[in-house]
Amino acid sequence: MPRLVVVSNRVADPRKTAAGGLAVALADVLNNTGGLWFGWSGKIVEPSAGGRADEGELRTQQAGPVKLVTLDLSREDHDAYYVGYSNGVLWPVFHYRLDLADFDAGYIAGYRRVNQLFARKLQPLLRDDDIIWVHDYHLIPLAAELRALGCTQRIGFFLHIPLPPPLILAAIPGHDWLIRALFAYDLVGFQSEADHGHFCRYIEAEARAQNLGEGRWRAFNRTIQAGAFPIGMDVEEFNALASAPDGLEMYERMRREYSRRKLLVGVDRLDYSKGLPQRLQAFRELLQRYPETHNSATLVQIASPSREDVGAYTDILHELESLCGSINGNYGELEWMPVRYIHRTVARSRLPGLYRASRVALVTPLRDGMNLVAKEFVASQDPQDPGVLVLSRFAGAAEQLKEALLVNPYDVEATANAIHLALQMPVEERRARHQALMANIREYDVHWWCDSFLDSLVKAQAEETGTP
Ligand code: G6P
Repeated sequence: MPRLVVVSNRVADPRKTAAGGLAVALADVLNNTGGLWFGWSGKIVEPSAGGRADEGELRTQQAGPVKLVTLDLSREDHDAYYVGYSNGVLWPVFHYRLDLADFDAGYIAGYRRVNQLFARKLQPLLRDDDIIWVHDYHLIPLAAELRALGCTQRIGFFLHIPLPPPLILAAIPGHDWLIRALFAYDLVGFQSEADHGHFCRYIEAEARAQNLGEGRWRAFNRTIQAGAFPIGMDVEEFNALASAPDGLEMYERMRREYSRRKLLVGVDRLDYSKGLPQRLQAFRELLQRYPETHNSATLVQIASPSREDVGAYTDILHELESLCGSINGNYGELEWMPVRYIHRTVARSRLPGLYRASRVALVTPLRDGMNLVAKEFVASQDPQDPGVLVLSRFAGAAEQLKEALLVNPYDVEATANAIHLALQMPVEERRARHQALMANIREYDVHWWCDSFLDSLVKAQAEETGTP
C-alpha cells in the first residue's frame, strides 16, 4: 500500500485516546503506511510590530510511525478562512441555514489564500506514489491548487458535513468555482445517499456534467468518481474505553446517582445545527404532557463550547441557557432538577459509561452529516438491557439506523411523544432494536469506511489515466 497523506484543517495525534473522531478513524491506515498528516497547528500568529506575521512555518512531530506536519495561520488568514468563509458561509449554507450566512466578499479571498498556502507547503513533502486524502469543507479547493503546482497523485475528498440541494448551494456567491474545484479530485465522497444525490443533481444542472454511470462523471475535462461512504465508528476502540477505569467509574457513578430515575442524555458541540433549543422544548413538552415523568426523568445535556468567535454561536448559547433555566425554574423541585446542563467538554474516556447508564439518548440535529454520538450510544449499551436511541431523520445516521425512533426535530409534540415511548419501551423491543442497530454499526464500521473509500480512490485513478 502506498503512503497515505491525510490533509484536514485540524490535526490530532492518533496515539491519544482523547483525539476521537477522525484521528481514531485514520490511525490504522496512517500507522500501517507510515503516513503523513498535514494541517493547521491550531495556532494564530500575530504580526510583529510593523511586519507581517510569520505564518506558514512548518512544525513536524513524529507520532510513532506517523508524521504530523502543521502550520500556523496569521490572524487575518484565520479570520477570513476559518471564521469567515468556512464557518460563516460554508457551514451554515451546507446545513441549510442561508439565514445565518455572512457573504462578506473578503472571506473567499482568504479561503483561497489559505488553500494556496496549504498546497505550497505540502507539495514539496509529497512523493510521486502517495495517495492523498483531503477532509472536509475547509479544504475544497486544495486539489485544484495542488494540481496547479503540478501534482499528479491520486487525490480524494471526503465531505464530513451535509451537502444541501442544488438551489441552496447555488445561493453561495462563487458556488460554481467551488464545485468546479471538486473536479480536481479523483474521488469525492459524501456521508449519505441524500448528499450524494444533491451533488449529482447540481453538477448535471449547473455544470452540464456527463453521467458515465457507476458513479463516474465527466465535466471540465476531467472524469471523477463520486459516491456515499457513510462514516462509521471503531466499535473495539469504544469498547476498550468502556472497560477502562475511567469508563467503568463513570458508569458506576451515574448508576448510583440515578438509581431512582431514568436518565436521558444529549452530547453535542454547542452548534445551531444540533437542534438543542428544539430538543429542550420537546423535553419541556414531555414534562407538560406526562406528569409521571416528574421526579423520574432527568436530562443530562452536555454542550461543549465551539467556535465562540462566530456570532451565531453566542446567540444559540444564550437561547439554550435561558431554556434550561426556565424548565428547571418551572418544573424543578427541591430534590429533583429536570435538566442538568453542562457547558464544558467531557473527556471522551467518560462517555461510554455515561451512555451505558442512560435509558434514552436524544440525538436530534436539524441537520447533520452523520453524527457519531448516535452510533457510540448504541455501541455502549448492555445488550440485555439496552437504552433507546431517539434520532433525527435529518442526521446522516438515519439512513442506516432505521431501528432507532426516528423523529422530526422541528415537531416538538411528536418528539415529546417519541421520548415518552422510548422511556416506556419494554425490554424485548429494546433488545430487538438494539440488536439490529448493532449489526449495522458493526458491519459499516470505521474500517469499512476507510477501506471502501481508499479502494475506490485507487480504482478511480486507474480509470482516469490517459484522459486529458
Ligand atoms: C465538525 C466538522 C469537523 C470539525 C469539527 C469541530 O465535525 O466536520 O471538520 O473539525 O466539527 O469543529 P472545529 O471548528 O472546532 O474544528
